[in-house]
Order: sequence, then C-alpha cells, then structure tokens
Amino acid sequence: MNIEQLRADTPAVAQLIHFNNAGAALMPAPVIETMTRHIQLEASLGGYEAAGRQSADLENVYGTIGRLINAQPDEIAVIENATRAWDMAFYSLPLQPGDVVLTSTTEYAGNYIPYLQMKQRRGIEIRVIPNDEHGQVSLSALTTMLEDDRVALISLPVIATNGGPVQPIEQIGALARSAGVLFLLDACQGVGQMPIDVQKIGCHMLAATSRKYLRGPRGMGFLYVEKSLCQNLEPAFLDLHAAALQSADTFTIRADARRFENWECNVAAKLGLGAAVEYALAQGIEPMWLRIQQLAGYLRQRLLEIPGVTPQDPGLQKSGIVTFTHQNHSAAQVQQWLAGQEKRINVSTSTFRSTLLDMQHRDLLEVSRASVHAYNTEAEIDTMVAALRGLQGV
Ligand SMILES: Cc1ncc(COP(=O)(O)O)c(C=O)c1O
Repeated sequence: MNIEQLRADTPAVAQLIHFNNAGAALMPAPVIETMTRHIQLEASLGGYEAAGRQSADLENVYGTIGRLINAQPDEIAVIENATRAWDMAFYSLPLQPGDVVLTSTTEYAGNYIPYLQMKQRRGIEIRVIPNDEHGQVSLSALTTMLEDDRVALISLPVIATNGGPVQPIEQIGALARSAGVLFLLDACQGVGQMPIDVQKIGCHMLAATSRKYLRGPRGMGFLYVEKSLCQNLEPAFLDLHAAALQSADTFTIRADARRFENWECNVAAKLGLGAAVEYALAQGIEPMWLRIQQLAGYLRQRLLEIPGVTPQDPGLQKSGIVTFTHQNHSAAQVQQWLAGQEKRINVSTSTFRSTLLDMQHRDLLEVSRASVHAYNTEAEIDTMVAALRGLQGV
C-alpha cells in the first residue's frame, strides 16, 4: 500500500493521531471534495436542482456499494445510519410468538434492545450462542441450537463495537443456509476494514455505516437485502418513495431494496458515501485489511510492555479495534490524557452500555479503545505507547 499517499489524502494526520476509526474515521480528501462540491452546488442551484444535476452519480452509489459487498444495485438501500438500516430489516421480519432469535454475546445494545422489544410485543425468544474456547461464537453450539425448528433468525455483528473476535461469519452463514434460517449481519465495524462478500458469507441481510472504517461522512449508512427475500419483507415504515399511492384506497410497495429507504436524505453525504467506497476499493480492501491487522498486532504487543496495561481482545482472529484496561486509571482518564498530548491522540471509551452481555461475561465495565486504520503508522503507535507510559506517574 502507498501509505504516504494515504496520509497525504488525510490532512488531519499532520495535527493529530487518530485511533478512533471505530467511532468515526478521518475522511479522505476525495470524500471531502465530493461533499463540499455538492453543498456548493446546492447553494448555487437549489437542493432539488443540485440533486437533479447529480442524478447519475447518485444512482451510481448503489452499484459502487454493490461492488464493495458483491451485491446487485437493486439489493441496496441507502439509509441514514447502520442502526436504522438494521431496524428496517429487523422490524420487517414476520416474527411470530415462540420464534427464536439467535445472537452472540458480542451483540450491540442498539440491536439487542429491539430483540427485547419484540419479545415484549410478539413473544419471541432470544437465545445467546455460547462462545468457544477462543471467545468467538461456538460453531458446534450453534449447530445444536439450529436443530430447534423454532429458530427464525441468526443476527450478530461481525466485529463488536468493543473489539474482540472477528466472528466466523462464513461458517455461520453456511449453517444458517443449511438450516433454512435467515441471517442478518451487522457489518458496521466490518465494511471498509475487511473483505465483506455477501455471496461468500451467505447472509440474507446486512447493515453498515459510512463513517467508521469506510471513512465516509457521518449520518449515512446502507442496508443489503437479498433480492429473493426483498419482496417478502414489508418495511415497518413506508413513505411515498418506498411505496406509491395508486388510488384513495390502494398502494404498491417498490420491488427493490429501496423499499427500505425514505425519500428525504442528505444528498451530499450519499455522494460522500459513494466516494468513500470508491476510495476504499481503489486502495484494495485485502491489502488494507492486512495492514490494519498488522498495525493492531503491533499495538497489542507494545501495550504488553506497559506496566498496569492489559490488552483485552479475545478471539482467534482479531480486528483493528484494540481494547485495553489500565490498572490505575479509568478509560475516561486514559482518553483525556492521550487527547491532552502535544500531538493530540484520539482514542475512545467503550462501556458495558453498548455491549452489556459481553462485558458482563468478561467482568468488565469499560475498556479503552484504540482502533487503527491503514493510514495509521507504527510511529504513531510508538508515540501513543510512550504517552501511556507517561501516565504511570500521574
Ligand atoms: C457493531 C455496531 N453495530 C451498530 C452500530 C451502530 O451504527 P450507527 O451509529 O451508524 O447506527 C455500531 C456503532 O458503533 C456498532 O459498533
């Protein structure tokens, strides 16, 4: 990879060290330029008129996302964030009382809360797939759990918001397919970081966001729904973009995945998402994934050298999200200390509130989260490690 070019495309790296890519990564220049250009067009032409001028580019966004995840353009809906994209899929499922949803200990609270709501509303049952000895979803436990024909859905994140394992999603997908069970994948922390191919994974639905490893703008995301499934899923919300009023008494719902969208959207951000995906594809997802893993491995190894610091990521395969705890300092103190360095270092704090099951399981209340991207460097990691050593005496 051309790291110098990656960094030249990311001007903020001159002023700060950004290890909050799992929160929101730094946008590369082509994304910023695409969005700025469109906002200027809106200012000079009018919002609708600017969108009209960009209609071909807006249409291309679907094909670009499709290339990223190996899907067709009509299987993609552009939705304002991963949560709402996920909701649109989940709440469209015709779950019945007694239906079972299987999830992982690493599930995101934003997804787990809807399971509970559907448990209360419709009487579904939530079952958590146990982990294997490596801390990832146990495939043998999953195989056994799938013998129950009340299982209607497997739904989990490929990478949790608080790090941990990269789940064996291709094996999970294969098990789901052979059991005839739907598989909804939360790829929020996966897209842009690692190869995500819906054909290989075999997931039926996938939700993702723009601002994290894809390096797109905030307030943007997308949903994939397999074509053969799409027309059988009625979105919980409809508007005049998702559906068409045919008479005073009748309407029809669009056939494609855009039935999960709504009409109004941030057009500059939608174009920005398209530019971010183009940029990621131009870098090459495979080399980026290799570099991210290599940097994260280096960071984990260096963290071991610091007295009082414990790396916290289980899993056979780990991602670019590196988490750790400090014996003498809270995650908020670590975050504040690093932000106050001469060259600001951005890390974040992940608490039990976003991944309750996993944190309870591992007896943790919070972790510091340093999430690396391909544009980060070993030298930046060394700077952070030195700064953390400095925290010892404070
Ligand atoms: C695993 C996971 N799923 C879902 C989300 C929600 O994404 P968004 O904030 O785009 O709705 C996050 C955000 O941190 C996440 O880490």
